[in-house]
Amino acid sequence: MRAWHKGMLALSLAAAVAGCGQGRPQGAVAARAVAPAIRMVEGQPFMWGVSTAGYQWEGHDSASQWKAWEQAGHAPDQNVAAADGLNRHAEDLDLTAGMGCNAFRTSIEWSRIEPTEGVIDPAGVAFYHRLLDGIRARGLTPIVTLHHFTHPEWFAKKGGWEQEANVATFERYVAFCAREFGPKVQWWITFNEPNVYVAGGWLAAGLPPGRKSPLAAIGVAKRLGRAHAAAYRALHAQDPDAKVSFNWYTAEWALSGLMDAQEEDQALRATTHDDAMAAMAKDERSGQRTIDYTSFDYYCKLSLRDVLNLPRQDRWQAYPEGFYKALKRYHARYRLPILVAENGMATWEGLPRADGWTRANHLVAHVKAMQQAMREGVPVLGYVHWSITDNWEWGSFSPRFGLYRVECRQQEFTRIPTDGVPAYQGVIQAGGASPELQLRFPAPRADGSLPMPALPGPATLLGLPPR
Ligand code: BGC
Repeated sequence: MRAWHKGMLALSLAAAVAGCGQGRPQGAVAARAVAPAIRMVEGQPFMWGVSTAGYQWEGHDSASQWKAWEQAGHAPDQNVAAADGLNRHAEDLDLTAGMGCNAFRTSIEWSRIEPTEGVIDPAGVAFYHRLLDGIRARGLTPIVTLHHFTHPEWFAKKGGWEQEANVATFERYVAFCAREFGPKVQWWITFNEPNVYVAGGWLAAGLPPGRKSPLAAIGVAKRLGRAHAAAYRALHAQDPDAKVSFNWYTAEWALSGLMDAQEEDQALRATTHDDAMAAMAKDERSGQRTIDYTSFDYYCKLSLRDVLNLPRQDRWQAYPEGFYKALKRYHARYRLPILVAENGMATWEGLPRADGWTRANHLVAHVKAMQQAMREGVPVLGYVHWSITDNWEWGSFSPRFGLYRVECRQQEFTRIPTDGVPAYQGVIQAGGASPELQLRFPAPRADGSLPMPALPGPATLLGLPPR
């Protein structure tokens, strides 16, 4: 075992939180990898990362069901090259490492690997090897999603998630990824936001396949659960030390004031589909747990008005307290270490938001909320910010989530830092949202105005000692 692996073993997240480790021999590739940089938060080894997804970032994909959806005219913008991550991944990994991060989350695009059923494209496989090597060479831990809302069009044509037999097809793809990339990856996410995927694809018809059938939605939700359990087994068969989960979308629902605390808690569990999440986290046959860590995404507080207005991501209500509450809630339910797979904030075309939230103060306020939960005993493994660059926001390039701005629609791919970059850099350097960072990036008041920095009083101006 190489020396750095031994060091990592000693300091690993595994040792710190309930067996979720990352020190292990990784065969020949270890020679090319640099030890994941060690960061500590609240006395715990911690992953500070950025998050992206293949179809939204890489571009140049012609075989996925999303491409077919766009070509059928369902998306206002056409995603030609996304943020050109396919060609610019090395630059984005440099930017990630440059902020001090030690983790990078992205997805493998099944359609790039297997554009035609049963035919593996060596170029697609080689791309993901290059990407994973690049991630590891910069001391970043790869966190890999296997299904981020996309799959090959041939899979959709076979009935997608509405056909039980396709669970085995997905399992075959996962087993392939486990064999091929497993030596380089320990942290896996099978499905990105299964609850959003089912609701968007089978109830709201905003995502492919664009159905509005509650009956089909129930069947698909069950099938995703089976597919997740099968993937969990396949990943563990390849590597018993693999860490597998799925990331649930959660929001704080604007219900407060209408009910007492207990009722509010129950309503929150129902509206965030917490029971559906718990069902997916268990093998339906054996009843055994199929997650090694809890993972969720948190963006905002949602009221009914927001739900009707979802495509205006820049109007989602920032509410860091909801993030704190979600961490507490998921910890109470699962008692597992938690990976925050996504948190972030959108502007509209990069313009300032009306409510005064900026990427910088949003990030600092949410990290502060997370640290409060950690201090109260919630074991958080990592915080993965969405996203490293602006990218394809499922139908549009207008919502901008990037730490780095990119004019994807114009295919002008220069990476321009936003105010989120120095903020994230500062957070990582300080091991969290230090008082200095909170002063430098204060959260806005409810009316959108920023608190004024305290003015020096007469005593200070006269040079008198403080009372
Ligand atoms: C999804 C991402 C999306 C982000 C911002 C999450 O729901 O996983 O794909 O871009 O939120 O809307």
